[in-house]
Amino acid sequence: MFRKTRALTVVVSLILLTALLLTACVPAPAPAAKAPATNKVEMFSWWTAGGEADGLNAMYAIYKQKYPNVEIINATVAGGAGTNAKAVLSTRLTGGDPPDAFQLHAGLEVEKYEPAKYLQPLDSLYTSEGLDKAFPKDLISLLKYDGHFWGVPVNIHRANVLWYNKQVFADNGLKAPTSWDEFFAVGDALKAKGIVPLVIGTKEGWEAGHTFETVLVSVLGADGYNGLWTGKTPWTDPKVTQALETFKKMMAYANSDYAALTWSDAAQYLVDGKGAMHIMGDWTDGWFTSKGYTGYGWEPVPGSQGIFDALSDSFAAAKGAKNQDNLMAWLKVAGSKEGQEAFNPKKGSICARTDCDPKLFNEYLQSAMKDWASNAIVPSVAHGAAAVEKWATVYKDILTTFATKGDVAATQAALQQACVDNGVCK
Ligand code: GAL
Repeated sequence: MFRKTRALTVVVSLILLTALLLTACVPAPAPAAKAPATNKVEMFSWWTAGGEADGLNAMYAIYKQKYPNVEIINATVAGGAGTNAKAVLSTRLTGGDPPDAFQLHAGLEVEKYEPAKYLQPLDSLYTSEGLDKAFPKDLISLLKYDGHFWGVPVNIHRANVLWYNKQVFADNGLKAPTSWDEFFAVGDALKAKGIVPLVIGTKEGWEAGHTFETVLVSVLGADGYNGLWTGKTPWTDPKVTQALETFKKMMAYANSDYAALTWSDAAQYLVDGKGAMHIMGDWTDGWFTSKGYTGYGWEPVPGSQGIFDALSDSFAAAKGAKNQDNLMAWLKVAGSKEGQEAFNPKKGSICARTDCDPKLFNEYLQSAMKDWASNAIVPSVAHGAAAVEKWATVYKDILTTFATKGDVAATQAALQQACVDNGVCK
């Protein structure tokens, strides 16, 4: 009896052993795609205006197609150039309640958010998605800070564009100005006809700084302008005086209610034929398009031909993000050809990638693509590329005051002091 049982046990054990061995040899089924741990993802930006919001929604639509079960939380804080959004974002990061992804300008702006503490380095995503090869060299070097990538760029914007109402120019037999002499001559002719030559809005505190940087680019040229942010060009340079004098004179051709208007309010004056020219970044192209307005022409800001004053929006990943997998999926869409081709024609920007199809873009954007490829590239200060945020903020405040007060000497001294305070000038 005992022997019989033992024999049985041996047989059973053998069968079990064989089964076990067989199982071990059979290749394991491919693991199911890793289920996202959550069904949400929160994206933070200041894109609420026409064009901006349309572009973002177009990119969201691509994400939705790929991840239909993930709910997108569109966390926006209105205010051009991130005026209000950046403060809210800082509070959320330091308070331990970060959004998953957030809008971040390529360049020195990242310093504000203490990347080592609050952001995820994205180097491995760059490698796995081939992003290190997808973007132009100039942009890649702007994106690296402390040896790491902290954001995935979605676009390239141009800051130094003069937009004008073609009808107003045609009706008055005028040509868009390409030099400051022409600008003021055109301004006089329009003033005499009761038309506001230059529309500007300084309500949000960054627009005067934006306009003035384009004048600096024009008067100092690419090298001279670049030197302002590295200490090579002193802020006491006579050309800075000349740029301030030029901007002061421009303000004499501007709408009197400028302090009450945002950039898009000012652009509306152009649409309504109440103003002739507006200096603003090319998100204005997206905004015009969103309004169905096609009567606009464009030129580089007078004297800045051949120079592309550039900025780039990227998405950064917060450390401690609540929806990590969905966040990474978003960054992949944001960096992809498909995502960028959906976003940029509506946003009024060109792709950060070099492989987008130009045929998807309107005439202005096609011209921007050509200029981006052939012009000297300089970094925008009003939009996070040229200087740390602390310096850029002081710079913008100084220029907002200057737009109203017009004190050239005091303004130049304050600009020099800001450079000293930031350890770049002696
Ligand atoms: C810039 C940003 C653009 C556009 C603009 C106006 O700082 O890079 O994408 O949104 O502000 O809000």
